[in-house]
Amino acid sequence: MPETKITALVLAAGKGTRMHSPRPKVLQTLLREPMLRYVYRALDPMFSDILTVIGHGAEEVETVFPGRSFVVQAEQLGTGHAVQTAWDAVKATGATHCLVINGDTPLVTPEALSRLTDAAGDGDLAFMTITPKSPAGFGRVVRDEDRRIAAIVEAKDYDIAVHGHATGEVNAGIYLLRLDTMGALLDRLENRNASGEFYVTDLVELAVADGLTVTGVQCGDDLSLMGINSPRELIQAENALRRRIVEDLIDRGVLIHNPDTVIIGPGVTVEPGAEIFGHCEIYGESSVAAGARLGSYNQITDCALASGCLVKEFNHMEGAVVEEGVQVGPYARLRPGAVLRRAAKVGNFVEVKKSVVGEGAKASHLTYLGDTEVGAGANIGAGTITCNYDGKNKFRTVIGEGAFIGSNTALVAPVTVGRDALVGAGSTITKDVPDECAGIARGKQVIIKRRLKRS
Ligand code: UD1
Ligand code: CA
Repeated sequence: MPETKITALVLAAGKGTRMHSPRPKVLQTLLREPMLRYVYRALDPMFSDILTVIGHGAEEVETVFPGRSFVVQAEQLGTGHAVQTAWDAVKATGATHCLVINGDTPLVTPEALSRLTDAAGDGDLAFMTITPKSPAGFGRVVRDEDRRIAAIVEAKDYDIAVHGHATGEVNAGIYLLRLDTMGALLDRLENRNASGEFYVTDLVELAVADGLTVTGVQCGDDLSLMGINSPRELIQAENALRRRIVEDLIDRGVLIHNPDTVIIGPGVTVEPGAEIFGHCEIYGESSVAAGARLGSYNQITDCALASGCLVKEFNHMEGAVVEEGVQVGPYARLRPGAVLRRAAKVGNFVEVKKSVVGEGAKASHLTYLGDTEVGAGANIGAGTITCNYDGKNKFRTVIGEGAFIGSNTALVAPVTVGRDALVGAGSTITKDVPDECAGIARGKQVIIKRRLKRS
């Protein structure tokens, strides 16, 4: 058999009118990740050449996916026109076949795509069919008396008198086209239909008429092939994805309590042996190590949580590194660049931004640490504020190992509090406090006799 080389072509130029959103449909998010990224996740392990047809919101799509190869379809005249527009670019990759996939199918898996490539053999055109519970909006598959594929007819163009009763078998929008034979047929597509568009699906009828080999790969009620056209479909798909991810983690040994209330994004890694309580959301590139415990009501994005850390309830964490044995919360806010070293403790109503909290150091209550380095074992009293911003620039605060910052202290950066130094409660510290010294900067207490009125 001659060698085959398949190039993938993602159709993503459409507006997604039924989403009623100014955002291009393929950038709508599921579990906080754009729809198109899911399609790439399925394609990347299988294909070295992937082209994407963009049009509506093209610049936005290019910005979200730098480094991808795009073909611009300036006017969106239909899915067939999208393939025509990209055809030369596909040929230029040296492909023998093109796998065309609608960009609005985020649940698709490499396994589903393999079913198509395996079944296609050396035919000319193969596509995937499904029999979903609500087939209303899909293109309908028409077969002849011998159950051979005859055509795909869009719902809008379907005429029972001509096409017979619909069987419920519909087109999933994923096709494998042989370049040799399909190029000529692409040129023959017409737009005389209810939408006035050039349909890629019309290739089927043209191929059958020319006596070419057309295969419909039946995939039953395979949810992974559903298309997203409306907010309701997006939410359905998002729920399905959420379940798929959570169930898979449980099967691999992650203890997830109340799993219906847990949302974990596709880019998150959670090791077996981690424990997660209900109502948690974990997104982005977060990682949760074995032995980490997450209480309820946490929202975590792009954080690394090490083994043995305990994230209590109600925390908001983004771009933070949490090392072994650290305790966070309840009610802490970790912002990008927060690094909590081993066994550190950040408690309620503490905000940490671009700051390192050293090994075993504690900020247990009501504190803002911004652009700060806190040494190992330091104790930051309740109500400590690092004043890192003068209205124009940001400055750093350094707090040495073993230092003790008394409650209700303002540290006006740039400022350094030395190793084993102490700051008296209620101070406004504007000058460095050297190692092993105490700094107190507050009004002196005076005692005077009260004048009481006595009757
Ligand atoms: C399409 C199929 C239908 C199938 C369904 C599966 C056609 C004519 N119909 O219908 O048979 O059952 O998918 O989900 O193909 N696009 C472009 N350029 C365009 C128009 C669309 O790139 O000019 C892209 C869209 O961005 C989208 C994809 O093609 O990602 C499919 O377009 P859409 O309008 O969603 O087609 P459906 O009506 O769902
Ligand atoms: Ca669609």
